[in-house]
Amino acid sequence: MQKCFQNLFKDPVNHSDLRYFGTYKNGNWDTGILRSMLNEWKVIDGIPYFNSDNEGDQFSLDDIDSWVEGGRFKRRWQNKGNKYMSNNVYSWLCKQVATLNLPIMEISCGPGLGLLPDIITMNPNVNCLATDACSSVVLEWNKFISDKDATENISFASFDTTNMPIHSNSIDVITSYIGLSSIRCPGEDGMKGVNETYRVLKPGGYLFTIENTWKDRKAIHEVFDLWGRDCWYRDNELSWHDKFQKANFKIIDEKLQETRVLTPQDNELGEIAYRFGIEIGMEYRAYILRKV
Ligand SMILES: C[S@@+](CC[C@H](N)C(=O)[O-])C[C@H]1O[C@@H](n2cnc3c(N)ncnc32)[C@H](O)[C@@H]1O
Repeated sequence: MQKCFQNLFKDPVNHSDLRYFGTYKNGNWDTGILRSMLNEWKVIDGIPYFNSDNEGDQFSLDDIDSWVEGGRFKRRWQNKGNKYMSNNVYSWLCKQVATLNLPIMEISCGPGLGLLPDIITMNPNVNCLATDACSSVVLEWNKFISDKDATENISFASFDTTNMPIHSNSIDVITSYIGLSSIRCPGEDGMKGVNETYRVLKPGGYLFTIENTWKDRKAIHEVFDLWGRDCWYRDNELSWHDKFQKANFKIIDEKLQETRVLTPQDNELGEIAYRFGIEIGMEYRAYILRKV
């Protein structure tokens, strides 16, 4: 954990301060524990783990194998700076973040590492903290990056985006690529992650995000009916625009990034929709938001 992120952390259970006891490498945390009055959280290879695996995706050993042996991480890392850059809105958003030149925290970074690889290509000096509830995601990305391309500027942490072990008003910039859309338990109104993101940002801090929305409610219900499963799609949730406003964010800019059809590669619903020949439309929108 780089120095610039070491003062961010608090206990996610009792909200008290945490102190690091352990070894350092070049001033960065290496291996030890973060201790509050009541709890202890492990830090291994510089990564704090806040026991959040149940809140994230449940990846199988085959999934993990596909990231490492199957080359998914390698492709993402080697293609950084060009994978999505042909999309003007995607590259515009990354450029806005890169030029700010402030420390960045990516939420629910997932196996794609969110926007970070592309931002880093535009500004290799920027300090980044990549986070995900799933411990394997951050552990494997950290191993991959230290082995293949020792970039000292990326730190990792494993925690739940809906209950961040991060002090209020402490983060300059948060980035997310489908990070808020992917939260497994976002609360009844879908606001938990958005509210938490607002809480941890400094006043004046920015959230740069691309989030998706599924269109075609009728098609989604048809797929669930044919599948014979209870529909977990929440029709009555607010749009991302309205959720951001409800959380008190100022919307600085909003652009449509992409529209496309849900595919079998996206998720199980995409597989089933494909099997029944039903198309479910999706829309990706990019936002620049500010805590005022
Ligand atoms: C589809 S990925 C999101 C896309 C990702 N940003 C990327 O670039 O690949 C979903 C990720 O969200 C994480 N996730 C789901 N719920 C979460 C939560 N409550 N807190 C933190 N991460 C969460 C999962 O563990 C998973 O790694």
